[in-house]
Amino acid sequence: ASMRSFLKDLPKCEHHLHLEGSLEPDLLYPLAQRNNITLPEQFPKTVQELEERYTRFEDLQDFLNFYYIGCEVLLQEEDFFDLAWAYFKRSAAQGLKHAEVFFDPQSHTSRGVAIETVVSGFQKACVKALQELHISSKLIMCLLRHTPIEECKATLESSRVLFETGQLHALGLDSAEKPFPPELFTECYATAKEFHPDVKLTAHAGEEGDSTYVENALDLLNVTRIDHGVNSAQDPELMARLARENIMLTMCPLSNVKLQVVKDVSELPFDKFLDAGISFSLNSDDPAYFGGYILDNYVAVQTRFNWDMQTWKKVVKQTIEGSWCDAKRKNELH
Ligand code: HPA
Ligand code: ZN
Repeated sequence: ASMRSFLKDLPKCEHHLHLEGSLEPDLLYPLAQRNNITLPEQFPKTVQELEERYTRFEDLQDFLNFYYIGCEVLLQEEDFFDLAWAYFKRSAAQGLKHAEVFFDPQSHTSRGVAIETVVSGFQKACVKALQELHISSKLIMCLLRHTPIEECKATLESSRVLFETGQLHALGLDSAEKPFPPELFTECYATAKEFHPDVKLTAHAGEEGDSTYVENALDLLNVTRIDHGVNSAQDPELMARLARENIMLTMCPLSNVKLQVVKDVSELPFDKFLDAGISFSLNSDDPAYFGGYILDNYVAVQTRFNWDMQTWKKVVKQTIEGSWCDAKRKNELH
């Protein structure tokens, strides 16, 4: 209990959180009903059955199949608001202070929902989170790497004004990693940077793909952050580069276990990264699917690694420094 309360009191920032991945079963069914959505026939019928199914995923794709069905219950601006607000409230109770959160517009625009509806709902939740929970936040728009490149380009074009006006802060890349390497998205990443010089770039890499996915994301997409990046530990030269170029890895311990990237949290290369001087943060990825929010991930790490106070201070400091908020906000967080 005292370990949990020590970790709870740390000023935590989250860098790797898919808002659609925070859709809890107990919100999914009410939203399906509210929007008159018929779920697929084989889909679990109750909260309890769905929670049970979420305890075992074969791999990333098995999870994604459920994740995209979950997305189908989101239609109206208030659905997106309710989703994000539920995430902020639950995370506030776990000591979250700052969040840089992903969303997948294509999983909604493909069903006829306007990107403006999605962003507006999320934004209202962000405003309320700052006012009532003192959680600051940034929105990161992700492209779905399994979709045709022309569709990604169209999505990017539809988001131009949102980037130009600072409503969207960064571009990311997610979904099935392996047959869809970073090099397919070189042009999209260059385009996003042209929208506004302050646009930040990140990409999922090295979760199921090997270390070359990380290397190519750095070389070809010009990202300054890598989401997951677990497999970077396979390549000592890449590790030296991550440290030298101060690239932050947004690690997701419970996710990696649930999607069978590793068998146990204890197998994650945190000690290697600390020794190499690589910055990383600890994150929940898709908390409704993987059985834990941010503090649960901190606890999962501490029960395996038993870090001393000094190590936790270092991890918290590098997490704040690697955040995309301004210097004034970073000061408040420290
Ligand atoms: N990996 C890739 N794509 C995703 C994930 C993830 O963990 N969560 C939601 N989309
Ligand atoms: Zn992710």
